[in-house]
Amino acid sequence: MQEQKTVLITGGNDGIGKATAAELSRSGMQVILACRNEEKARLTAREIQEQAGNGQVAVLPCDLGNMESIRGAARQFKEQYGRLDVLINNAGVFTSQLEHTREGFELQFGVNHLGHFLLTHLLLERLQQAPGPRVINVSSIAYLQGQVDFDNLRGEKGAARYNGLKAYAQSKLANVLFTRELARRYPQLGAYALHPGPVRTRIGNKHSTWYTSLGWQLLKVFMTSAEKGAKTSVYLATTPGLESARGQFFDDKQRQRSLSATAKDEALARKLWEVSEDMVGNRK
Ligand SMILES: NC(=O)c1ccc[n+]([C@@H]2O[C@H](COP(=O)([O-])OP(=O)(O)OC[C@H]3O[C@@H](n4cnc5c(N)ncnc54)[C@H](OP(=O)(O)O)[C@@H]3O)[C@@H](O)[C@H]2O)c1
Repeated sequence: MQEQKTVLITGGNDGIGKATAAELSRSGMQVILACRNEEKARLTAREIQEQAGNGQVAVLPCDLGNMESIRGAARQFKEQYGRLDVLINNAGVFTSQLEHTREGFELQFGVNHLGHFLLTHLLLERLQQAPGPRVINVSSIAYLQGQVDFDNLRGEKGAARYNGLKAYAQSKLANVLFTRELARRYPQLGAYALHPGPVRTRIGNKHSTWYTSLGWQLLKVFMTSAEKGAKTSVYLATTPGLESARGQFFDDKQRQRSLSATAKDEALARKLWEVSEDMVGNRK
C-alpha cells in the first residue's frame, strides 16, 4: 500500500486554498491548514472532513505577517509530523492602502513573498525527507506588471505614493522569482509557480477601500469558482512526473513557456533571494 502523503496549505481556510485543501483531502492526502485565523481554520477542517469523509485535516496556526508566528508554526510542524511531501504557498493578501507586517515590511511583499520564503526555508529539511517533494507557489499573471523596488520593501516611500496594485504585482513577481531560484538551488525539489485564473473570492474585499472593494465585487460576475481556481494547484500537487517543468509557471494546468524578461532575470532572482534572507534573518 502507498504511504499517505502530507500536504501543508497556507491560507487553506478560505477561497482557492480551501477548495484546494478539500480536493486534496478527497484524494486521500493528510492535509494541514496553516492559517492565521485558527477558529475559522478549525471550522474549515471540520467541514472538509465531513464532506470528504477523511479524518486527516489538521490546523497549524501561522500568521505570515509575523516571523515569530511562522517560526512557531514550523516548530510545531516538526514536533507533530514527519516528512512533508507538498507545501502549497497559497495565502495571499491585497491591500489598497499601505499596511505593514509585524516586522515593518510592506504587507503584500511581507505576507505574499517573505512569509512564504521563511516558511519554506524552515520546512526544507522535512521536504527533503520526502520522495519527490514539491513546493507550489500560488502567484498570479499580475506578476507581468511587477517590478522589484528594493528601496521600498518597507514602504519607505510613504502612504501617499503607495499603489496597492503595483505592490500586489511586485509580490506576485517575487513568487515567480522565488520559484525559479528555489528550483535552481534545490534541483531535487519540484518548485512550481502558478496563476489560478480570475477567481470569485474575497481577496479584493478584505483590505480594500470601499471603491476598490466595489470594483472587485462587480468584476466577480466574470470570474470563476474557487473549485476551478484550485485545479492547477491540485494538478501540481498530485500529477506524477513534471520533473522537466521544475521552476516553471503554470496557468490552467499548462506550463507557460514564455515568461516576461523580468521573471527570467536570474541576477534579479538571486538578489531577491539574498535580500529576502537578510530581511527574515535567515542568512547562512
Ligand atoms: N482570486 C483571484 O482572482 C486570484 C488571482 C490570481 C492569484 N490569486 C492568488 O491566489 C491566492 C489565494 O487567494 P484567494 O483569492 O483565495 O483569496 P482569499 O479567499 O482571501 O484567501 C486568501 C487566504 O490567505 C490568508 N491570509 C491572508 N493573510 C494572511 C496572513 N498574514 N497569514 C496567513 N494567512 C493569510 C487568508 O486568511 P484570512 O481569511 O484570515 O484573510 C485566506 O485564507 C493568493 O495568493 C492570491 O494572490 C488569486
